[in-house]
Amino acid sequence: MSRVRKAVFPVAGLGTRFLPATKVIPKEMLPIVDVPQIQIGVQEALDAGIEEIVFITGRGKVSMVDHFDVAFEVESYLRDRGEEKLLAVVEEISQKARITSIRQKRPLGLGHAILCAQPAVGDEPFAVILSDDVIRSEEPAIGQLVRVFHAHGGGVVAGLRVEKHALSKYGVIDPSGEPPPAPGVTPLKGMVEKPKPEDAPSDIAIIGRYVLPPEIFPILERMKPDAKGEIQLTDGLRGLLEHTRLYAYEYEGKRFDAGDKLGFLEATVEFALEREDIGPAFRDYLRRLTDSW
Ligand code: G1P
Repeated sequence: MSRVRKAVFPVAGLGTRFLPATKVIPKEMLPIVDVPQIQIGVQEALDAGIEEIVFITGRGKVSMVDHFDVAFEVESYLRDRGEEKLLAVVEEISQKARITSIRQKRPLGLGHAILCAQPAVGDEPFAVILSDDVIRSEEPAIGQLVRVFHAHGGGVVAGLRVEKHALSKYGVIDPSGEPPPAPGVTPLKGMVEKPKPEDAPSDIAIIGRYVLPPEIFPILERMKPDAKGEIQLTDGLRGLLEHTRLYAYEYEGKRFDAGDKLGFLEATVEFALEREDIGPAFRDYLRRLTDSW
């Protein structure tokens, strides 16, 4: 079975939930403390051994691609002033990741964004990372899915149990009922995009990490847009089930919905508390703040 070498990041979205901040700044560039969300996702992919990053971009995303390029002026400024630590941080971003970017010319949904990646992915399995699902874990979340993919083949989606009322925000898996081939691995017979809670086939939501075989491309290519004018990845995955097995994996880690204001704040607080430089002072501040309530 081929190795998973490439990760696709669909990043063409307009980020309307974070207006006005995202009027000219891509939402993926909003930082959790001082690291842009997209960089957290790219780092996760690199930590999992992925070598090539494919951005599916849209209008106004140039700064995001620039972020991973060499920043000559900034680097020579830091070098001249002997700011070695900061220089290393900035240089690392442009040295580690091999980036390709492809324009998604029309906003036709997540399935269409993945289809746009075909020329860069070719005929091999690949990872998909939705960077506003920020996951903190010991082993990179996408690496955990790659491991399941290598053990069981087919395709793998990240699964997370959520409360019933929240299911309508997600794709929801329909388990086949077969015994799990390994702990946390659920064989699927279907999935539904954003069902009403009473119609949901399970309480396991699909989170933004996938490992997919290239057979998904012709399926997405044949699909017609839905009532919203979009090609849903979830519908494409259902089509994929006619060709191959799909599994949901309940990964280890804590996920933040950084595409939502509250989730973004939660991620900011928890990442800040973990930091060696500002964590202790921030913890003190939070204590003083809660004491004063
Ligand atoms: C997308 C997918 C959905 C998945 C979610 C994970 O939805 O369509 O199936 O559960 O990402 O974050 P979106 O959040 O783009 O509406």
